[in-house]
Amino acid sequence: MHFDIITLLPELLASPLSHSIMQRAKDKGLLTVELHDLREYGMGKHRQVDDYQFGGGAGMVMRCEPLAELIDKLKSERTYDEIIYLTPDGEQYAQRRANRLSLGKNLLLICGHYKGIDQRIRDEYVTLEISIGDYVLSGGELAAAVIVDSVGRLLPGVLNDETSALTDSFQDDLLAPPVYTRPAKWRDHEVPPILLSGHTANIEKWREEQALQRTKDRRPDLLTD
Ligand code: ADE
Repeated sequence: MHFDIITLLPELLASPLSHSIMQRAKDKGLLTVELHDLREYGMGKHRQVDDYQFGGGAGMVMRCEPLAELIDKLKSERTYDEIIYLTPDGEQYAQRRANRLSLGKNLLLICGHYKGIDQRIRDEYVTLEISIGDYVLSGGELAAAVIVDSVGRLLPGVLNDETSALTDSFQDDLLAPPVYTRPAKWRDHEVPPILLSGHTANIEKWREEQALQRTKDRRPDLLTD
Protein backbone atom coordinates (compact mmCIF):
# COMPACT_ATOMS: atom_id res chain seq x y z
CA MET A 1 0.00 0.00 0.00
CA HIS A 2 1.20 3.49 -0.79
CA PHE A 3 0.62 6.70 1.18
CA ASP A 4 1.30 10.18 -0.14
CA ILE A 5 1.24 12.80 2.59
CA ILE A 6 1.05 16.53 1.96
CA THR A 7 2.59 18.43 4.87
CA LEU A 8 4.33 21.63 5.89
CA LEU A 9 6.35 19.69 8.47
CA PRO A 10 7.79 16.58 6.81
CA GLU A 11 10.38 16.22 9.57
CA LEU A 12 7.59 15.81 12.13
CA LEU A 13 6.26 12.79 10.25
CA ALA A 14 9.48 11.11 9.21
CA SER A 15 10.39 9.75 12.63
CA PRO A 16 7.13 8.17 13.87
CA LEU A 17 6.85 6.24 10.61
CA SER A 18 10.42 4.92 10.71
CA HIS A 19 10.35 2.60 13.72
CA SER A 20 9.21 -0.81 14.80
CA ILE A 21 6.29 -2.26 12.86
CA MET A 22 6.06 0.62 10.36
CA GLN A 23 9.74 0.36 9.45
CA ARG A 24 9.44 -3.41 9.12
CA ALA A 25 6.45 -2.99 6.82
CA LYS A 26 8.51 -0.63 4.67
CA ASP A 27 11.53 -2.96 4.69
CA LYS A 28 9.31 -5.81 3.51
CA GLY A 29 7.99 -3.62 0.68
CA LEU A 30 4.42 -3.86 2.00
CA LEU A 31 4.15 -0.14 2.80
CA THR A 32 5.56 2.92 1.08
CA VAL A 33 5.17 6.45 2.41
CA GLU A 34 6.13 9.58 0.48
CA LEU A 35 6.17 12.95 2.22
CA HIS A 36 5.50 15.98 0.04
CA ASP A 37 6.59 19.35 1.39
CA LEU A 38 3.86 21.82 0.49
CA ARG A 39 6.29 24.71 1.01
CA GLU A 40 7.97 23.75 -2.26
CA TYR A 41 4.73 24.70 -3.99
CA GLY A 42 4.37 27.97 -2.06
CA MET A 43 3.86 31.25 -3.87
CA GLY A 44 6.37 33.99 -4.57
CA LYS A 45 9.76 34.67 -3.09
CA HIS A 46 8.60 33.65 0.39
CA ARG A 47 6.93 30.45 -0.78
CA GLN A 48 3.72 31.58 0.84
CA VAL A 49 1.12 28.88 1.49
CA ASP A 50 -1.40 30.74 3.66
CA ASP A 51 -3.34 34.00 3.70
CA TYR A 52 -5.86 36.04 5.68
CA GLN A 53 -9.43 34.82 6.00
CA PHE A 54 -12.08 36.51 3.93
CA GLY A 55 -14.62 38.04 6.27
CA GLY A 56 -12.01 38.76 8.92
CA GLY A 57 -11.13 36.86 12.06
CA ALA A 58 -7.97 35.56 13.64
CA GLY A 59 -5.93 32.85 11.98
CA MET A 60 -4.59 32.15 8.56
CA VAL A 61 -6.05 29.80 5.96
CA MET A 62 -4.06 27.59 3.60
CA ARG A 63 -4.43 28.86 0.06
CA CYS A 64 -5.84 26.86 -2.84
CA GLU A 65 -3.08 27.26 -5.44
CA PRO A 66 -0.14 25.43 -3.79
CA LEU A 67 -2.39 22.58 -2.65
CA ALA A 68 -4.08 22.29 -6.04
CA GLU A 69 -0.79 22.23 -7.91
CA LEU A 70 0.61 19.46 -5.74
CA ILE A 71 -2.60 17.42 -5.63
CA ASP A 72 -2.96 17.66 -9.45
CA LYS A 73 0.60 16.45 -9.87
CA LEU A 74 0.05 13.50 -7.51
CA LYS A 75 -3.28 12.62 -9.15
CA SER A 76 -1.58 12.49 -12.52
CA GLU A 77 0.78 9.84 -11.13
CA ARG A 78 -1.63 7.68 -9.12
CA THR A 79 -5.27 6.81 -8.70
CA TYR A 80 -6.32 7.27 -5.10
CA ASP A 81 -8.83 5.17 -3.21
CA GLU A 82 -9.42 8.18 -0.98
CA ILE A 83 -8.11 11.72 -0.70
CA ILE A 84 -8.24 12.33 3.04
CA TYR A 85 -8.16 15.64 4.85
CA LEU A 86 -7.28 15.44 8.56
CA THR A 87 -9.49 17.86 10.45
CA PRO A 88 -11.21 18.06 13.83
CA ASP A 89 -14.59 18.44 12.08
CA GLY A 90 -14.19 15.19 10.14
CA GLU A 91 -15.65 11.73 10.72
CA GLN A 92 -14.55 10.29 14.05
CA TYR A 93 -11.82 7.76 13.25
CA ALA A 94 -12.33 4.20 14.45
CA GLN A 95 -11.13 0.67 13.76
CA ARG A 96 -13.89 0.02 11.22
CA ARG A 97 -12.57 2.83 9.01
CA ALA A 98 -8.98 1.60 9.43
CA ASN A 99 -10.08 -1.86 8.30
CA ARG A 100 -11.78 -0.44 5.22
CA LEU A 101 -8.84 1.80 4.31
CA SER A 102 -6.44 -1.14 4.58
CA LEU A 103 -8.17 -2.73 1.57
CA GLY A 104 -7.08 0.13 -0.69
CA LYS A 105 -3.95 0.59 -2.75
CA ASN A 106 -3.15 4.33 -2.69
CA LEU A 107 -4.17 6.94 -0.14
CA LEU A 108 -3.47 10.66 -0.19
CA LEU A 109 -3.43 12.42 3.18
CA ILE A 110 -3.57 16.21 3.51
CA CYS A 111 -2.33 17.79 6.75
CA GLY A 112 -3.75 21.21 7.58
CA HIS A 113 -2.26 24.00 9.66
CA TYR A 114 -3.45 27.33 11.02
CA LYS A 115 -7.23 27.60 10.60
CA GLY A 116 -7.18 24.84 8.02
CA ILE A 117 -7.38 24.70 4.24
CA ASP A 118 -9.62 26.76 1.95
CA GLN A 119 -13.05 25.11 1.74
CA ARG A 120 -12.81 24.99 -2.05
CA ILE A 121 -9.98 22.44 -1.90
CA ARG A 122 -12.18 20.28 0.29
CA ASP A 123 -15.04 20.61 -2.18
CA GLU A 124 -12.87 19.99 -5.21
CA TYR A 125 -10.61 17.12 -4.16
CA VAL A 126 -11.25 15.64 -0.73
CA THR A 127 -13.26 12.40 -0.63
CA LEU A 128 -13.03 11.71 3.11
CA GLU A 129 -12.48 13.93 6.16
CA ILE A 130 -11.19 12.32 9.33
CA SER A 131 -10.83 13.49 12.93
CA ILE A 132 -8.82 11.38 15.35
CA GLY A 133 -10.65 12.79 18.38
CA ASP A 134 -12.47 15.71 19.91
CA TYR A 135 -9.46 17.92 20.50
CA VAL A 136 -7.49 20.27 18.31
CA LEU A 137 -3.93 19.48 17.25
CA SER A 138 -1.53 22.11 15.92
CA GLY A 139 -1.56 20.40 12.56
CA GLY A 140 -2.73 17.23 10.84
CA GLU A 141 0.66 15.48 10.96
CA LEU A 142 0.13 13.51 14.15
CA ALA A 143 -3.31 12.50 12.91
CA ALA A 144 -1.76 11.36 9.60
CA ALA A 145 0.78 9.27 11.54
CA VAL A 146 -2.14 7.65 13.40
CA ILE A 147 -3.81 6.75 10.10
CA VAL A 148 -0.65 5.29 8.53
CA ASP A 149 0.16 3.26 11.65
CA SER A 150 -3.35 1.91 12.25
CA VAL A 151 -3.85 1.03 8.56
CA GLY A 152 -0.28 -0.13 7.91
CA ARG A 153 -0.33 -2.74 10.67
CA LEU A 154 -3.43 -4.35 9.12
CA LEU A 155 -1.75 -5.06 5.78
CA PRO A 156 -1.24 -8.79 5.26
CA GLY A 157 2.27 -9.84 6.25
CA VAL A 158 3.07 -6.76 8.35
CA LEU A 159 2.46 -8.32 11.75
CA ASN A 160 4.52 -11.38 12.57
CA ASP A 161 1.54 -13.29 13.88
CA GLU A 162 -1.16 -12.37 11.41
CA THR A 163 -3.92 -13.39 13.73
CA SER A 164 -2.87 -10.87 16.34
CA ALA A 165 -4.58 -7.94 14.60
CA LEU A 166 -7.78 -9.98 14.74
CA THR A 167 -7.65 -10.11 18.53
CA ASP A 168 -6.97 -6.39 19.02
CA SER A 169 -9.34 -4.23 20.95
CA PHE A 170 -12.24 -3.00 18.76
CA GLN A 171 -11.85 -5.73 16.15
CA ASP A 172 -15.22 -7.26 17.14
CA ASP A 173 -16.49 -4.09 18.77
CA LEU A 174 -15.00 -5.48 21.97
CA LEU A 175 -12.06 -4.35 24.07
CA ALA A 176 -9.20 -6.82 24.41
CA PRO A 177 -9.10 -9.11 27.48
CA PRO A 178 -6.34 -8.74 30.10
CA VAL A 179 -2.99 -10.38 29.27
CA TYR A 180 -0.25 -11.79 31.50
CA THR A 181 3.30 -13.05 31.11
CA ARG A 182 5.89 -14.61 33.41
CA PRO A 183 6.31 -14.84 36.34
CA ALA A 184 3.10 -16.65 37.28
CA LYS A 185 3.26 -14.98 40.72
CA TRP A 186 4.53 -11.40 41.02
CA ARG A 187 4.48 -9.81 44.49
CA ASP A 188 1.17 -11.08 45.77
CA HIS A 189 -0.56 -11.06 42.38
CA GLU A 190 -1.20 -14.36 40.68
CA VAL A 191 -2.05 -15.01 37.05
CA PRO A 192 -5.64 -16.33 36.71
CA PRO A 193 -5.18 -20.13 37.06
CA ILE A 194 -7.23 -20.85 33.93
CA LEU A 195 -4.43 -19.36 31.80
CA LEU A 196 -1.99 -21.91 33.24
CA SER A 197 -4.36 -24.85 32.74
CA GLY A 198 -3.37 -25.62 29.15
CA HIS A 199 -7.06 -26.09 28.31
CA THR A 200 -7.33 -24.10 25.08
CA ALA A 201 -11.11 -24.11 24.77
CA ASN A 202 -11.65 -22.96 28.35
CA ILE A 203 -9.00 -20.27 27.95
CA GLU A 204 -10.68 -19.00 24.81
CA LYS A 205 -14.04 -18.91 26.61
CA TRP A 206 -12.50 -17.06 29.57
CA ARG A 207 -10.96 -14.48 27.24
CA GLU A 208 -14.27 -13.88 25.51
CA GLU A 209 -16.01 -13.39 28.87
CA GLN A 210 -13.31 -11.02 30.07
CA ALA A 211 -13.46 -9.00 26.83
CA LEU A 212 -17.22 -8.69 27.15
CA GLN A 213 -17.06 -7.72 30.83
CA ARG A 214 -14.36 -5.13 30.20
CA THR A 215 -16.38 -3.66 27.35
CA LYS A 216 -19.54 -3.50 29.51
CA ASP A 217 -17.58 -1.78 32.30
CA ARG A 218 -15.55 0.68 30.23
CA ARG A 219 -17.18 1.19 26.86
CA PRO A 220 -20.84 0.14 26.98
CA ASP A 221 -21.42 2.39 23.93
CA LEU A 222 -19.56 -0.19 21.78
CA LEU A 223 -22.22 -2.80 22.57
CA THR A 224 -25.21 -0.68 21.64
CA ASP A 225 -24.03 0.94 18.36
N1 ADE B 1 -6.04 18.49 12.87
C1 ADE B 1 -6.15 19.21 14.01
N2 ADE B 1 -6.82 18.54 14.96
C2 ADE B 1 -7.15 17.33 14.42
C3 ADE B 1 -7.86 16.20 14.89
N3 ADE B 1 -8.37 16.14 16.11
N4 ADE B 1 -7.99 15.15 14.05
C4 ADE B 1 -7.50 15.19 12.80
N5 ADE B 1 -6.83 16.24 12.30
C5 ADE B 1 -6.65 17.30 13.09
